[in-house]
Amino acid sequence: MENLDAVRDDWLRQIAAAGSADALEQLRVTILGRNGQLTALLKTLGGLAPDERKTRGAALNALKATVEEALGAAKRSHDRAALDQRLKEERIDVTLPVKAEIDGRVHPISQTIDELIAIFGEMGFTVAEGPHIEDDFHNFTALNIPAEHPARQEHDTFYLTPRAADGSRKVLRTHTSPVQIRTMMETKPPIRIIVPGRTFRSDHDATHSPMFHQVEGLVIEKNIHMGHLKGCLIEFCRTFFDVDDLPVRFRPSYFPFTEPSAEVDIGCSREGGGLKIGAGADWLEILGCGMVHPKVLANCGLDPAEYQGFAFGMGIERIAMLKYGIPDLRTFYESDLRWLRHYGFLPLEQPSLVSGTR
Ligand code: PHE
Repeated sequence: MENLDAVRDDWLRQIAAAGSADALEQLRVTILGRNGQLTALLKTLGGLAPDERKTRGAALNALKATVEEALGAAKRSHDRAALDQRLKEERIDVTLPVKAEIDGRVHPISQTIDELIAIFGEMGFTVAEGPHIEDDFHNFTALNIPAEHPARQEHDTFYLTPRAADGSRKVLRTHTSPVQIRTMMETKPPIRIIVPGRTFRSDHDATHSPMFHQVEGLVIEKNIHMGHLKGCLIEFCRTFFDVDDLPVRFRPSYFPFTEPSAEVDIGCSREGGGLKIGAGADWLEILGCGMVHPKVLANCGLDPAEYQGFAFGMGIERIAMLKYGIPDLRTFYESDLRWLRHYGFLPLEQPSLVSGTR
């Protein structure tokens, strides 16, 4: 009969000498596998006398346990060595600066709205919103736009069917001014709001889109006059376009819902084909404004003898195009990633008056 001590020493030596996890696995099969050496030894038990079988069997089981333990320990030490090796090779240099990977960009419309909120927010305005689908009363009648006004004609306005019992139809709001009405009817003055949002007109060419954005402004207090309107809008234009001495001109105009009304122009030059804001002798129209019409105040239940105020409205695409040199209105809505990467803004650079609005 074979000397089990010698067999064990031989196997342990082989296990200790195994140079890799693969070699260890090979050894495990050779010793403990179905046709392995230990299995063969176990098979010889059958031919022994009962007493002898008992002692030999116990010795073989002990041998098996020893070998299994040695194989397990050797495997763990191989795994640990392999991990150590990997950790050594895969060292990460945490002092290397991160290469910022910014996939998204803020659309110029969103950015411009954030800038408007930052500028007017500093002057005490809050943001108000209203529905895109409006009724005739809020979009037109309450704003002193009579039935025969051209803005009511099919060609400017998207009307919704069906008609109400009184024959009126809902409309996609043609401007943000209906939110003036909603605010004045719902809140008591003092009122100081801006209303950025979508507006809709049945118009489509290089400078008109059937959907575009406006920002409305409304201030209602007891002693508000034209001087406040001018101061507020001059301040806005200079801050938004970032030109301290930007020339700003108020040109008499007409809106049904303001009296007097004005259009605001800013100074620019068009020399050499390029538009430059703030210099030169040319003017560029950027917004409409005026003192809220007494009829509009009365329509909202406010006493024009007690309250006054001013309102303004401007196209967001237009001022964004002027500020950021975007030549074509239609590109705003094409969702072209190349355009967005070029004209878009970094999401972490939020506009503020401290860090600058652009
Ligand atoms: N609602 C007007 C427009 O769409 C703009 C405006 C608003 C003018 C408020 C004066 C006051 O053209």
